[in-house]
Amino acid sequence: MTNQNSLVTIFGGSGFLGRHVVRALVQRGWRVRVAVRRPDLAGHLQPLGRVGQIHAVQANVRYPESVEEAATGSNLVINLVGILFQRGRQRFDAVQADGAGVVARAAARAGARLIHVSAIGADPASPSLYAQSKARGEEAVRTEMPTAPIFRPSIVFGPEDDFFNRFAALARVSPALPLVGGGLTRFQPVFVGDVATAIAKAADGETTPSTTYELGGPEVKSFKELMEFVLATIERRRLLVPIPFAVAELQAAVLQLMPKPLLTPDQVQLLRHDNVVSAAAERDGRTLQGLGIDPTAIAAVVPSYLWRFRKTGQFRPRTS
Ligand SMILES: NC(=O)c1ccc[n+]([C@@H]2O[C@H](COP(=O)([O-])OP(=O)(O)OC[C@H]3O[C@@H](n4cnc5c(N)ncnc54)[C@H](OP(=O)(O)O)[C@@H]3O)[C@@H](O)[C@H]2O)c1
Repeated sequence: MTNQNSLVTIFGGSGFLGRHVVRALVQRGWRVRVAVRRPDLAGHLQPLGRVGQIHAVQANVRYPESVEEAATGSNLVINLVGILFQRGRQRFDAVQADGAGVVARAAARAGARLIHVSAIGADPASPSLYAQSKARGEEAVRTEMPTAPIFRPSIVFGPEDDFFNRFAALARVSPALPLVGGGLTRFQPVFVGDVATAIAKAADGETTPSTTYELGGPEVKSFKELMEFVLATIERRRLLVPIPFAVAELQAAVLQLMPKPLLTPDQVQLLRHDNVVSAAAERDGRTLQGLGIDPTAIAAVVPSYLWRFRKTGQFRPRTS
């Protein structure tokens, strides 16, 4: 394996996408340093590699010294750090904008290459603070490490995802599922394994320098269609209730107080725009297909982990 003695430091490596990126890189022979706020909580990553191939160090992107220390000696740095809602000092700007700059600067100082993960919808003019901070993070990366590849996924699915699991869990206990803005917002769900493969290809130098890739799956579906897919998969009938954006904002103002909010006012802003690969990215081949990856459909994977939300708890693979 060509990467046998190369060291990659992965910020955010303990998260959902992180574990798949760690697996993809250890399979390619990288030594993996996972930089996380709580190394004691990263034990689930150890079985993914050989003894000694993966180790965790402490780092918080809000503390530049910790990031510099973690990046020292790396050949490659990958930034997977992100948050879905703000809590305490975990603000979008601090973590996804300034934090992205901190990681990029540390990579540059370490003489390492950088791979940065952003999100489709990153836009300095977006009404969403999440999307604004993702755009500012990309700008910081372009300033510090102009040649770094940037990946913008649409919504990511896989066994530990926060989307299909969350709505299936909601459908188990609630007689209705909400359709914010009528559920017309379009998504292009992308399999976590495909995103990890794209990142691994970038690690192997197979991406074009200074390029922003947009990662989507093979199908574009509205939020309503995705909820219908969830209900069909878990074999439950539920009311799908359209909620105007203005009403959803009011509800989200209350829901955001939950420890892990179902919806925040900022997410309602995000839902006002489609979350799909742009025509420009398609045209330029800045996509999974452009990287030679055949994207995986939701029907091929999601039933294998949503089966536990069925009434019977029985797993029956879909035949169509
Ligand atoms: N999942 C999706 O559908 C999706 C879609 C588009 C883009 N993305 C982007 O993909 C990346 C990975 O997403 P994910 O789904 O894997 O998210 P995730 O499971 O929430 O993981 C996020 C990671 O960021 C770390 N983190 C948060 N705040 C930090 C801080 N201050 N310092 C250091 N680490 C911190 C978390 O560690 P702790 O355990 O310490 O919190 C965790 O390891 C993110 O940039 C996200 O915005 C994800």
